[in-house]
Amino acid sequence: MTNKKEIAIIGGAGHIGTPLGINLSKIGFKTILIDNNLKNIKLINNGKMPFFEIGSEKILKRLIKEKKLVATNMLQKVENCKTIIICIGTPINKNNHPELENFFLFFYNLKKYLKKNHHVIVRSSIFPGTIDKIKQIIGKNCNLISYCPERIAQGYSLVEQGKISQIVAGINEKSFIEAKKIFFKISGNILKAKIEEAELIKLFSNAYRYSHFSLSNLMYMMCEEKNLNFPKIRKLMVNGYDRNKSIPYSGFVSGPCLFKDTMQLSSYYKNSYKILENIRKINEGLPNFVFKNLNKKYDLKKKKIGVLGLTFKPESDDVRDSLPMKMVKLLKSKKIKVFCSDQYFKNKDTCSLRKLIKESDIIIIGTEHKIYKKIKFPKTKIVVDIGGYLEEN
Ligand SMILES: NC(=O)c1ccc[n+]([C@@H]2O[C@H](COP(=O)([O-])OP(=O)(O)OC[C@H]3O[C@@H](n4cnc5c(N)ncnc54)[C@H](O)[C@@H]3O)[C@@H](O)[C@H]2O)c1
Repeated sequence: MTNKKEIAIIGGAGHIGTPLGINLSKIGFKTILIDNNLKNIKLINNGKMPFFEIGSEKILKRLIKEKKLVATNMLQKVENCKTIIICIGTPINKNNHPELENFFLFFYNLKKYLKKNHHVIVRSSIFPGTIDKIKQIIGKNCNLISYCPERIAQGYSLVEQGKISQIVAGINEKSFIEAKKIFFKISGNILKAKIEEAELIKLFSNAYRYSHFSLSNLMYMMCEEKNLNFPKIRKLMVNGYDRNKSIPYSGFVSGPCLFKDTMQLSSYYKNSYKILENIRKINEGLPNFVFKNLNKKYDLKKKKIGVLGLTFKPESDDVRDSLPMKMVKLLKSKKIKVFCSDQYFKNKDTCSLRKLIKESDIIIIGTEHKIYKKIKFPKTKIVVDIGGYLEEN
């Protein structure tokens, strides 16, 4: 028999799985985080978060101590859990198409542990049609399958989860009702959707945001071409004119979701909507644009360049698919002397903030961590501030 009060989260030691597990334990479920990342499992069981997540450490320690949350690599632990939530990654390949082999392989492994009353809920961001394929793989063993896409901003799960609506789609009414009961405890706002609708809602949302950023980046490039300052222009556009309020700042926009999900969407429509590809080209092309722009103005072989802030977004320690990292790689490939530094991320190539400022002739603001705003850069330094972040008050 499975236990209604027990939930297994696969990918439970990941950026989505861990905070979701904390949220579910907090509201009374015994939660088992199942993952194949042994390093993260150990950290979690010692009450330490493997990555930055606002407000998590204290509560994680308490839940582990009270045995309401536990991490393991043993997939067979799903046997007792009524609900199994899937939060494993859904990457794309070099050609920007979904790489689903490992994802589906997981369901072939899971199948042998499933009983009829198990409920499998997918939380990962998936390529449309994925739930249908999962149904084909595990459907004979289990007929309760739902898709409830995760929509929090990474790092803010514990703050946001209860406040945002939850899209819930089941392959049948029973699946929907069961999934609704769980997510209703997290957020009172449940929105019912069909599976195909839920799959598209997640991808459309990320493509929409990614496209917004790309428009600002396009305007930034247009301004630079004419020696104009886009951040200043943006400020004037927004001031006292509400219709322009949603124009994002220009800047590096990257990370594990927006780009990947826009490409999943493009791939689903067999790349026939070229606008999606162009959005990608603008955002992903920004490091190259910055390099070419600097190269026109300066003899870069004689300059040392610092990239300040390396994570994919501010106040995060995550460098997955980060454009500042891509900027560093590009500069190095051009044989330019590069210094890089980040408040939250350190490795053998990073240096201190002080050294970066001292050594670099040109400083590119990669990630706009709050603390960098306070820096008074020496007048002799050339600072590339794509979003006009240092000018903001
Ligand atoms: N990161 C975000 O902000 C965010 C937001 C919404 C949705 N999502 C989606 O959630 C999913 C997970 O993203 P993430 O950022 O948490 O990724 P992640 O890489 O941080 O976490 C995935 C975890 O799954 C584990 N894993 C992979 N295969 C496994 C297997 N077969 N068995 C057990 N564990 C396995 C990995 O070890 C890893 O810990 C993706 O589909 C992503 O698009 C992410």
